[in-house]
Amino acid sequence: MRVILLGPPGAGKGTQAQFITEKYGIPQISTGDMLRSAVKAGTELGLKVKDIMASGGLVSDEIIIALVQERIQQPDCSHGFLFDGFPRTIPQAQALVDAGVDIEYVIEISVDDEQIVSRLSGRRVHENSGRVYHVEHNPPMTAGLDNETQEPLIQREDDKEATIRNRLSIYHNQTKPLVEFYTDLSKSQTDGPIFSTIDGLGQLDEVQARIVKALG
Ligand code: AP5
Ligand code: MG
Repeated sequence: MRVILLGPPGAGKGTQAQFITEKYGIPQISTGDMLRSAVKAGTELGLKVKDIMASGGLVSDEIIIALVQERIQQPDCSHGFLFDGFPRTIPQAQALVDAGVDIEYVIEISVDDEQIVSRLSGRRVHENSGRVYHVEHNPPMTAGLDNETQEPLIQREDDKEATIRNRLSIYHNQTKPLVEFYTDLSKSQTDGPIFSTIDGLGQLDEVQARIVKALG
């Protein structure tokens, strides 16, 4: 099963990805998590993208496409994968088409901008695994600590209000057009992806149930 989770920053892509990967046995490919690991490790890639990410801007298509192309060659992707945060520009989506990577489902998680600002300011993450929490909506068992490792949780550098607004504006300009791209693709190809939009508001398990339904 090859799935794309589309949606604005803070829509719940990472949160729902954790559940989908367990239920369907496919790996999560989060370009954001991959880039944050590179920044943390101080690799050449990390140094290149650090400032762009901190400002909420997009990393170049060239870098992202190369990163994903390498990742999907790994053996754990042989039965499919879940893209979280990729593609987020038309050239990235077109690169998948050109490389013959057939996507079965594209799910857009829809959440309005004001809700996003509130979600992201309460978000806490476990840096090594990418596990996501929220101080009110999805708190860890012990405040400030990851459920599995008991290591401290952090706040992402790009979760400041001004940066969140910048990420949202980039989302509306550069990523939202993918909705039309995938709607057109599903109409023009007989085996094209099934596109659906689901409401991202509500309890985590309500959103989960909508995703399961969208995945048929
Ligand atoms: P990335 O890491 O992909 O960030 P993003 O798209 O901005 O999305 P987020 O991770 O912020 O949100 P999410 O949808 O995963 O929400 P979450 O589940 O955490 O990218 C970061 C940066 O990397 C980019 O800005 C860019 O610089 C670069 N980059 C990455 N990919 C790129 C690409 N393809 N091209 C170019 N550049 C790229 O949930 C958010 C919060 O809400 C959490 O606290 C969660 O607990 C809470 N929550 C979740 N669901 C609910 C619910 N139903 N009710 C209440 N709260 C909820
Ligand atoms: Mg995420």
